[in-house]
Amino acid sequence: MELFNILTFPDKFLSQPTRPVLNIDGRLQEIIDRMIETMVAAPGVGLASIQVGIGESLIVVESQPGEKKHDPLVLINPTIVAADGSVLSEEEGCLSVPDYRADVQRFAAVAVEAHDRHGKPIRLERDDFLAVVLQHEIDHLNGTLFIDRISALKRNLYKRRVMKQLKENE
Ligand code: CO
Repeated sequence: MELFNILTFPDKFLSQPTRPVLNIDGRLQEIIDRMIETMVAAPGVGLASIQVGIGESLIVVESQPGEKKHDPLVLINPTIVAADGSVLSEEEGCLSVPDYRADVQRFAAVAVEAHDRHGKPIRLERDDFLAVVLQHEIDHLNGTLFIDRISALKRNLYKRRVMKQLKENE
């Protein structure tokens, strides 16, 4: 199966909110399988459709990060319906923001409602690392990157570095 290319900042597609998935059809199943393979190959703990140029709202997330066995969660049209507490997500990173990590303030626990790949409604509650991953991936679907959640000073330093690299590679 052909892997997807992962879009990286400052690609404008990454900042446009996605639209809901309306049809869970064969085409979508193929997209889901390719997203899972792309996430595993990267490797990453989560991947949002928008990162691979798909404008419909879905994410795949490793359900047991760090384990050898991959058993990814597929969440279609996910939304955070409840959130609680606060945690500093240390050295957060993103496949679409290469070579950069920063601390991000996140909720400590979230409840998410979505549909699974067969269209069945699901609700999950997660805390700690998986809560952070879910917030990060659902942010993507709204056009938000983790660097949008750090100080403007830090963000601008990163932007300047990327722009300089892009210029050098021209
Ligand atoms: Co990301």
